[in-house]
Amino acid sequence: MSVLLIRKYPDPILKKKALPVEEIDGELQVLIDDMIETMHSAPGIGLAAPQVGVSKRVIVVDVSSREESQPLLVLINPEIVRAEGKVASEEGCLSVPGYVSTIERAERVVVKGLDREGRPLEIEASGLLSRALQHEIDHLEGVLFVDRMSPIKREFFRKRYLRRQKAVV
Ligand code: NI
Repeated sequence: MSVLLIRKYPDPILKKKALPVEEIDGELQVLIDDMIETMHSAPGIGLAAPQVGVSKRVIVVDVSSREESQPLLVLINPEIVRAEGKVASEEGCLSVPGYVSTIERAERVVVKGLDREGRPLEIEASGLLSRALQHEIDHLEGVLFVDRMSPIKREFFRKRYLRRQKAVV
């Protein structure tokens, strides 16, 4: 297993819609293991394949550091099939280091996908897990949490973030 480089905003791969996985092979298993190690070492509670430069529909989520009973999840081709309620909470992203913002998302979701062996999986989630799943599935659509900020907040963020990026070269 290896820790992969996490792509940072404004890397163009983060804006691309990821392609569905068509074959679950050894190469994909290596990617999944590397994504898990990269997420844990960051540390983060979720990671999507485009964040490590692979434009495929794979996510890993592990909220057990904050909600002990939740197992590590690997989801291939995940889809939100039901979303209910609205809740605003603070979130950040490993691809946008140093920034957090309050983002409104569905309170509860049902997500369908495949596990790493290709077996169908359905997850009902609320709380942090629901938020993490929605955030990671957004990555597969090329959407970052900053895209969900109001236009004024986003413009303010963009200016500050890009100025800071320049400053740390
Ligand atoms: Ni993220």
